[in-house]
Amino acid sequence: MLARLLLSPPACRDAALLRRAVAGQTILVTGASFGIGREVALLLAEADAKVLLTARSLGPLQELADLIAARGGQAEVYRADLAQPAEVEALIQRLRAEHPKLDAVVSNAGRSIRRSAYSASEKRDLERSLAINFSGPAALILGLLPSLGSGSVIVNVSTVSVKPPGGPRWGSYQGSKAGFDLWLACLGAEVQASGVRVCSVYLPLTRTRMSAPTYSAATLALSARDAAQSVVDALVRPVSRIAPWWLAWQELGALLFPNVMRRALGLVERLDRWQERRR
Ligand SMILES: NC(=O)c1ccc[n+]([C@@H]2O[C@H](COP(=O)([O-])OP(=O)(O)OC[C@H]3O[C@@H](n4cnc5c(N)ncnc54)[C@H](OP(=O)(O)O)[C@@H]3O)[C@@H](O)[C@H]2O)c1
Repeated sequence: MLARLLLSPPACRDAALLRRAVAGQTILVTGASFGIGREVALLLAEADAKVLLTARSLGPLQELADLIAARGGQAEVYRADLAQPAEVEALIQRLRAEHPKLDAVVSNAGRSIRRSAYSASEKRDLERSLAINFSGPAALILGLLPSLGSGSVIVNVSTVSVKPPGGPRWGSYQGSKAGFDLWLACLGAEVQASGVRVCSVYLPLTRTRMSAPTYSAATLALSARDAAQSVVDALVRPVSRIAPWWLAWQELGALLFPNVMRRALGLVERLDRWQERRR
């Protein structure tokens, strides 16, 4: 509850409101097999939307689709690896053939990695992060543009960490997510003339498989359900940004006091190195 009060972006916690916004719609959710994407899919299906579920893990996707069907909802499974261009292309072709009109795409699939730029694997991390956090989702959205018409929404599940200042050891993750965020903002400026709305949701730390190495039991973090309620808020309100109240202050601080921020982050990195030497 404290995490929700202090950290959460605005959220839609009213099931009736969500149902009014999405009932009868067809909505693609990427990264629906686990974590925030799974919760988003459940919320949308409970609100009577037809959800199209995609990720790499067929078993968890099928389990989720069965759970939704058992509760009286509608879900279809599309297995695909968004980091593989050929699989993205095949996914686009199937979706366009089977669902020529989409009401929304929730671009949620992603992967985080925290590793030093001095690490031997950082170049590979950067390539993989760009593929899953930027080029894969961007190719998918471009391929689906003909299925998005007036009233359709593209929701980007982003992170507060794409906003300045960048953190040490997060270059691959934050850089790839920030690149996609700006790319989508540019696309949003263009597609609004066709009545398509783009909204980025900037989430803080959320308890999921992805973030498990980053927090301890005492760390303040949202639940996946809380985060999902912020994501679906993008389908309820006609906004382009959903962010916690303090994010604008973080951005302003980085703008007004860049050297203070730089020194503080330098201290964080020095502390990490000191802890590594002691291990
Ligand atoms: N957790 C946080 O603290 C946090 C904070 C801010 C923003 N976010 C963002 O929230 C989103 C969801 O993260 P999460 O925390 O829910 O992580 P998660 O539990 O690990 O879920 C990630 C989802 O992305 C899918 N995915 C990963 N690589 C994929 C690939 N190559 N192709 C297709 N699907 C792929 C995964 O499915 P498969 O493994 O089955 O493919 C899974 O369904 C991410 O975009 C993340 O950046 C998370």
